[in-house]
Amino acid sequence: MISGDLDEAARSILRANDRGGYTVPNGRVYPFQWNWDSAFVALGFDTFDRDRAWTEIETLFNAQWDDGFLPHIVFWKDDPGYFPGPVVWGTDKQPVTSGITQPPVAATSIRKLWESAKAAGEAEAYRHRLDALFPKLLAWHRWFATYRDPDQRGVVVATHPWETGRDNSPEWDAPGEPIDVSGVGDYVRRDTSHLDSKMRPTKLEYDRYLALVQFGRSTGWDHARIAAENPFRVADVGMSMILLRANRDLAALADELRNPDAAAEIRGWVARAEQGIGWLWNDEVGAWCSRDLLTGRSSGFITSASFLSFYAGLHDAERDVATLANFDRIAGMVEFVMPSLDPADPGFQMIRYWRGPVWAVVNYMIGTGLAEFGDEGRAGRVRADTLELMRRNGFYEAYSPIDGTGSGGDDFSWTAAIWLAWSKGH
Ligand code: GLC
Repeated sequence: MISGDLDEAARSILRANDRGGYTVPNGRVYPFQWNWDSAFVALGFDTFDRDRAWTEIETLFNAQWDDGFLPHIVFWKDDPGYFPGPVVWGTDKQPVTSGITQPPVAATSIRKLWESAKAAGEAEAYRHRLDALFPKLLAWHRWFATYRDPDQRGVVVATHPWETGRDNSPEWDAPGEPIDVSGVGDYVRRDTSHLDSKMRPTKLEYDRYLALVQFGRSTGWDHARIAAENPFRVADVGMSMILLRANRDLAALADELRNPDAAAEIRGWVARAEQGIGWLWNDEVGAWCSRDLLTGRSSGFITSASFLSFYAGLHDAERDVATLANFDRIAGMVEFVMPSLDPADPGFQMIRYWRGPVWAVVNYMIGTGLAEFGDEGRAGRVRADTLELMRRNGFYEAYSPIDGTGSGGDDFSWTAAIWLAWSKGH
């Protein structure tokens, strides 16, 4: 296919998955609004429908809770084809939502949308929308500082593997072991009726996911109690890097809006992260890894999230050299970077969720960070591989790094959005 066809194909996926103000990641497998999916989808819309791009994120924030929490799923309309649905979460909110969050990409996307509106001479038309979104973004980031970093270490503590967006990463295996699954009861999964079970988490992993949902529900989704008592608390390297980046972008927006108090508060979080995030560096493997808050143990897994330090704006000569050496080693083992798990790891599986496949959105963040760092060579490799995967195989949820086979759902919104964003130089 020539690139013009692909632009149109990507746009029609976004239009087809548009449910009126929000976009489903994939109509069959994921029939609701997902948090970080929408943040990326907005970048795709921005290349052909600026108003619709802003609406995507505004709709997401219409589901924000009073304490600033922004859910990972918004169940605008129920759909029996999905499990666990609204009843299982039992959050008792209107609209009904899940009770966990997802990686905070929205502030970074809004900054992009704002810059793009300004460049098009439309700042005046969008300024009031930025004004309205800013306090909501700030409230969400304040919620992170309060409830997802209770010890004020400058990291993000995930309370559920699904919160990290890298649902089935081996990083959650050891921290998940102590979770008591004896009370989970019977349930019928829906993911394995849409997708090959070889790609999906095992029964034990799923039991743990549900035990954590049941724990949250038993507290009435009391975020203070969850922060203090949840049986799974892991400082996620991915979310920690993404929040650090998002706080830098939010501070820039605060400057733009001439809000020095907010800017100072946000820069306080940035400073804390810059001081504390070194706790996630694993010297033995020479990589950024997640760390279990309860045992203090580093996962030791090199994943695609290990390469987000450039996106986070972190610079440390020795760590950068080690990180880039791992990048080159892995790049030499696969046809398409960046696999979600180091192919040298015995647990690497080229199509199982977050244990091998490449996700376009993670590549987008890695590539953006490397380009900002001035590493055009590696940034170019990430970008070229990502676009080539889509050219060869269409817009899948994820792809095998070895042979490019698509995995998960097809006609996937955020994959199409990354095609549009990257081919338009976003
Ligand atoms: C899967 C991914 C998650 C994503 C969701 C919808 O659950 O692991 O990151 O948000 O699908 O695309």
